[in-house]
Amino acid sequence: MAEIVVVESKQAAGELVATEIRRLIESKADTVLGLATGSTPLPVYAALAASFRANPLDVSRVRGFALDEYVGLPAEHPESYRTVITRDVIGPLGLTPNQIQVPNGDVATLEHAGAKYERAIEAAGGIDLQILGIGRTGHLGFNEPGSSFASCTRVKTLAPKSRADNARFFALPEDVPRHCITQGLGTIRRARHLVLLAFGVEKATAIAAAVEGPVTASQPGSAIQLHAHVTVVLDEEAAAQLAGLDYYRYIWANKPAWQGI
Ligand code: F6R
Repeated sequence: MAEIVVVESKQAAGELVATEIRRLIESKADTVLGLATGSTPLPVYAALAASFRANPLDVSRVRGFALDEYVGLPAEHPESYRTVITRDVIGPLGLTPNQIQVPNGDVATLEHAGAKYERAIEAAGGIDLQILGIGRTGHLGFNEPGSSFASCTRVKTLAPKSRADNARFFALPEDVPRHCITQGLGTIRRARHLVLLAFGVEKATAIAAAVEGPVTASQPGSAIQLHAHVTVVLDEEAAAQLAGLDYYRYIWANKPAWQGI
């Protein structure tokens, strides 16, 4: 099953994952990262940027693929994921825009955008490490309940709960797009290492379902149980509903230091 790591703060979570990403790039200069947006991964990007500032690393061959994008928002919109990735990842990590791809949510070319994105990921050699957050609906990427575990990058309809959660980024709740283009659960499962982060009490139910619940399309997060290498990094609040918490703490506390995550 997934390795569960409970940390004391978002900052500690960010440092743990950034250390692993740095180690990966040091061993594979053309590392391919899968990049979540939203609030959750921000401590990872901040810790990675700090690590590069303190100890510069050649990142010129790193590539990245965002998980998802809203449909119909112009790329230059302040809340398009292209803009968010440019602001939170490309700039702070010293990358160039052409190193990172984001699914194209332009309505005019949407029909073929998913297949094109899948081909680009494949041509890059696949994703080495996929950073994930989880929604209160249990979504990974924007794969809302009912998404096939075999799904590829495609257009989805955002659940009302997810639109409500993302309304904080927009002037008005009705400004949140209804559709998105997202890597599928099949796409996510092809990444070689999944790192799922979650913070706060509002994520506890979705995390318990993903880690310990039945494997079901009704809980997209449970797709992680089908993957051989998953790390779930949580704060105490997000971990609070895990039945096996004491056991997970024991396993982590006794893990050989050389193993990494
Ligand atoms: C973002 C994404 C979503 C978010 C999830 C949690 O690219 O695909 O699955 O990870 O909605 O969002 P936050 O981190 O804002 O709580």
